[in-house]
Amino acid sequence: MKGVILAAGKGSRLYPVTRVIPKPLLPMANRTTLEYAFDRLKDIGISEICIVVGENEPQMREALGDGSAFGIRLSYVRQEEPKGLAHAVGFAKDFVAGDSFVLYLGDAIYSSGFKKFAERFKESGCANLNVVKAVPDPSRFGVANVDGERIVKLVEKPKVPESNLAMAGLYFFGPQIWDVLPNLQPSARGEYEITDAIQIMINKGELVLAGVFEDVWFDTGTLDSYLETTEFLIDGGILIDPSATVQGEVGKMVVVGAGASVECQSIEDSVVLPGAHVKVAGKIRHAILAGPVLSDGDIENTILHGDYVG
Ligand code: G1P
Repeated sequence: MKGVILAAGKGSRLYPVTRVIPKPLLPMANRTTLEYAFDRLKDIGISEICIVVGENEPQMREALGDGSAFGIRLSYVRQEEPKGLAHAVGFAKDFVAGDSFVLYLGDAIYSSGFKKFAERFKESGCANLNVVKAVPDPSRFGVANVDGERIVKLVEKPKVPESNLAMAGLYFFGPQIWDVLPNLQPSARGEYEITDAIQIMINKGELVLAGVFEDVWFDTGTLDSYLETTEFLIDGGILIDPSATVQGEVGKMVVVGAGASVECQSIEDSVVLPGAHVKVAGKIRHAILAGPVLSDGDIENTILHGDYVG
């Protein structure tokens, strides 16, 4: 089995930081976001991984190389235009070369692994097994209607969801997927949806299963979720980068990333890039600051890297 990671997105919800550091390379509790994906794939014995990249290709290749630093073999394919997940996965067809594969959405972070789902996928001989999770707000996701473990219907971002099971960004596929991709039509949002591809497989009578994930799943694409995931990964505590010096009371503090000059009254809901030196007279709240910080005010819910002087 092989691994395909979709990481071509622009990360626009995290602009401006992602104009400089591609989203998949952003440090998340001191590790590159994609390292968590590599771990989850390695957990289930996958070491041959293809990353679908976009405009971020040069930085991605430079940072991740051939994967040997992470104990995997990496290759890259490029999706020139963002036309949806099903469009992106199509670029990995040659890499997968008729094998089965796991599709991993590069933004996702999970608190535990997928061994039982990998086993179920293999023993069932199904065409596709999708990791789903019960969520309070299913209309933000692809939503699965199930009959037992079988998925009978899938709808992308339904206004009125018929179930609370969200498609959680992790899919096991057999080669049947390749037959349906060429017939796919763009959705209302103009994208080739992976959920629509799977629905066509269901309509053709293929066996499509759900595996319910009981642990914690984060989509890390927004500042809120980025901060929330980081906090989770450091177990709500304090993680100090070895290169940082901390003085004074900092409350909840996370230190990640590397060392611009900003002098301002306050920083809120912000991302400051590496290379930054930050001097803040007032409050810092809900931010990612990748550089030394000088502040006389309170710092709250913030990711810092470098020296903090209170
Ligand atoms: C995509 C999928 C959706 C899935 C979600 C998981 O949505 O289309 O089915 O539930 O990822 O994060 P998007 O993030 O493209 O809106």
